[in-house]
Amino acid sequence: MKLWAGRFSKEADKKTNDFNSSIATDSRMFAEDIDGSIAHAEMLGAKNIISAADCKKIVTGLQAIKAEIISGALAIDADAEDIHTFIEATLTEHIGDAGKRLHTGRSRNDQVAVDIKLYLKKECDALSAQLEELITVLKNKARTYADTVMPGYTHLQRAQPITFGYHLSAYVEMFSRDIDRLTDAKRRMNLSPLGRGALAGTTYPIDRQMTAEALGFESFTKNTLDGVADRDFCMELASTLSIVMVHLSRFCEEIILWCSWEFKFVELDDAFSTGSSIMPQKKNPDIAELVRGKAGRVFGDLMGLLTVMKGLPLAYNKDMQEDKDAIFDAVDTVKLCLTAFIPMIDTMKALPENMRKAAAGGFINATDCADYLVSKGLAFRDAYKATGELVAICIEKGTTLEALPLEEYKKVCDLFDKGVYDAISLDNCVKRRGL
Ligand code: ARG
Repeated sequence: MKLWAGRFSKEADKKTNDFNSSIATDSRMFAEDIDGSIAHAEMLGAKNIISAADCKKIVTGLQAIKAEIISGALAIDADAEDIHTFIEATLTEHIGDAGKRLHTGRSRNDQVAVDIKLYLKKECDALSAQLEELITVLKNKARTYADTVMPGYTHLQRAQPITFGYHLSAYVEMFSRDIDRLTDAKRRMNLSPLGRGALAGTTYPIDRQMTAEALGFESFTKNTLDGVADRDFCMELASTLSIVMVHLSRFCEEIILWCSWEFKFVELDDAFSTGSSIMPQKKNPDIAELVRGKAGRVFGDLMGLLTVMKGLPLAYNKDMQEDKDAIFDAVDTVKLCLTAFIPMIDTMKALPENMRKAAAGGFINATDCADYLVSKGLAFRDAYKATGELVAICIEKGTTLEALPLEEYKKVCDLFDKGVYDAISLDNCVKRRGL
């Protein structure tokens, strides 16, 4: 029997019922839904909107339902319209008429908004904790490879020498900003919409501060229409998660390149690699590729949310039921990616000799050579030109700046002396930059 059976003369068509139902998605919010209902019922009791006896029955009934769902004694009905309807109906089945008083002064529109916020606030914390764990792993790795010289790149061309530790530290910065964004998203999410009713509040003397506090919100939303129609918090979280995926995906792209025979800068642990069904020699960085691929999925969730919301008149529209599939998918995907990514990084080993070999080619100390001439008094533009000539000579002779004899240097510019070899040694180049 539907909630609105009084107004309707027919039961909903079965397929339409399935189409309309969101239970498959929102049943994961059963605990938040029950917590929201308990806070609401206690407030109704405290304000004498319902009797103390009914309040008690409702609260104990809801607590029992929560325990039964958790233990598996109560199965969530897959045919129910949504989790809110299911819990309210089950409550009335369990405790009788008192259950029918629970929905006094609220609507599913404020109820669902509260549930999503409660659910996502916890997820923000879980995501931040995973990112913290990743940062710890990265900092340890960066310490291990603090002196491992590798080429730094621009345009994927060898540019200047850096260390592998320093390269990894760049990602520490990115993921730290992601945690910052998550904290910020959670802060803006921290206002309770409970008591906003369907769209225009309620005529009952409810206490919104009381329910907000009971549910751990900082305060409550101001405008009733905005309170139920706002899904900024979903879009903001999805965009924050999209940026996390950009960072993970760029990192994965580098790992995939570094695993190739062309680079061979790192070796992934066998437990985090896969083989080929036909080529016996293959060891593929599938985990990194999958994480890179899943970035597209999270961006899709963000696009979906933005598109669902962009044309909706105030206040609630059923289109908004689509919000949960999108934001839950984004959250689940990022958590899943981090679960695989963190141990993959933790067990990843660098191949320092290969990195150094790559750093020794490609004239990545050319800037340092020019800087050396500047230290001798030459203008940088002239020093740059002289070094360019030296690089051309090296390429022609098939040698490196380190191996080029001093007379060749002097032919190009007589300010050079043997100190240049110290200046262009890769380790010194890195050290002088303070990396
Ligand atoms: N299942 C609905 C959703 O997720 C709950 C709100 C229903 N409200 C309504 N007016 N039909 O959006």
